[in-house]
Amino acid sequence: MKLTIIGTGYVGLVSGTCFAEVGHHVICVDNNEAKVKLLRSGGIPIYEPGLEELVKKNVAAGRLSFTSSIAEGVEKSDVIFIAVPTPPQDDGSVDLSFIEKVAREIAGAMHGYKIIVDKSTVPVKTGEKVAETIKRYCKSKVDFDVVSNPEFLREGFAVEDLMKPDRVVIGVRGPRPVAAMKEVYVPFQAPVIVTDINSAELIKHASNSFLALKISYINAVSVLCEITGANVQEVAMGMGLDERIGRRFLNAGLGFGGSCFPKDLSAFIKIAEEVGYDFGLLKEVQRINAAQMDRFVKKISDTLWVLKEKKIGVLGLAFKQNTDDVRMSPAIDLCRRLLREGATLRVHDPKAMDKAREWLPDVEYVADLNAVAEGCDALVVATEWEEFKALDLKRAREAMSHPIFFDGRNLFDPAEMEKQGWIYKSVGR
Ligand code: UGA
Repeated sequence: MKLTIIGTGYVGLVSGTCFAEVGHHVICVDNNEAKVKLLRSGGIPIYEPGLEELVKKNVAAGRLSFTSSIAEGVEKSDVIFIAVPTPPQDDGSVDLSFIEKVAREIAGAMHGYKIIVDKSTVPVKTGEKVAETIKRYCKSKVDFDVVSNPEFLREGFAVEDLMKPDRVVIGVRGPRPVAAMKEVYVPFQAPVIVTDINSAELIKHASNSFLALKISYINAVSVLCEITGANVQEVAMGMGLDERIGRRFLNAGLGFGGSCFPKDLSAFIKIAEEVGYDFGLLKEVQRINAAQMDRFVKKISDTLWVLKEKKIGVLGLAFKQNTDDVRMSPAIDLCRRLLREGATLRVHDPKAMDKAREWLPDVEYVADLNAVAEGCDALVVATEWEEFKALDLKRAREAMSHPIFFDGRNLFDPAEMEKQGWIYKSVGR
């Protein structure tokens, strides 16, 4: 099929590339000329495992191309995906101006029947607005369908999630676009669910909010574990073996961050408020998430007492493993709090150091994981990178004035750490 994806962020670029990988002909559009130039020359603006190779392969095969012209993308394709940002506004609601602008531009370039698919995360009823806008701005009277097709990929695992999705959600107003949408996804061999547009839009916000709720739930349980001397990982294992609950997303730690959960939770609360429902449950999810970070910072300051003139080594800056993304990263939040208390920081992240510099200019960036501990009063794990498990603990201990370790992501085994002579504090254990 001939597909156009407007927006080459995480969702747009990975979707476009994976669509090309399964044999579709894909045009990716972005209004940022520099980004288009970079992509055309084989460069990738984000770090995402496996993506670079796939982009190169599909560009070489002639199935994937890049342009800054929406008109060209609309002209040459039957199905146009919108994957532009929907950033949060100060009151928690979603800024839909990029979606609206793209809808107008698509409308202006349409000369025959097109299927316009929203892939960006949007509030319920956005599809209706997009349809109205396209109708209003179409130069001639052309037929079109608007479809909601939310994306569920996780950063860091985006290619894997795209190629093997748990489900594909297609929200439509009538039957006409269903066959074409199913054809887009046939190669992925995933369960497809066809719903009305409002339901599809709600599925996305309801899913992300539920996952955030699951994380806050286990974080609340971790508080009880600490008070009672239980172990949150054992509790999570015991709960998770119940198939109705499941073990995934039950990792206690510094709480959730990133460009999706915090934003989508606020948006969902706001959406509910606007239709007259107080989604208090989700407000509590936010409160627990914030409190989890407060508790961890307190744990550090209770142990080290005065943070002024203390040197702390921080492992991890990305909002989670396998990504260079630092937007709304709990690790960055933690660093800023420690800096505010007067500590000096030596920091390391396998992929996110370049992106972190803008947010954290006044810290020492250390390229070698095993050199971070030098001269430090404590080490802190802030992101769940697998790489950190290979830390040379003996060398770290010898390089520090005191062997104090705060593990905000429960990467290490408490008994083993204590055996090795560390004063070791983690979350819920
Ligand atoms: C999330 C969803 O998982 C995707 O399904 C969705 O498509 C995406 O948002 C989106 O809306 O675009 P993502 O933000 O990439 O994906 O990252 P997650 O893997 O969900 O992690 C989010 C945060 O939760 C991270 O800060 C992570 O450290 C934290 N987390 C995750 C925990 O604290 N505990 C867990 O058990 C799992």
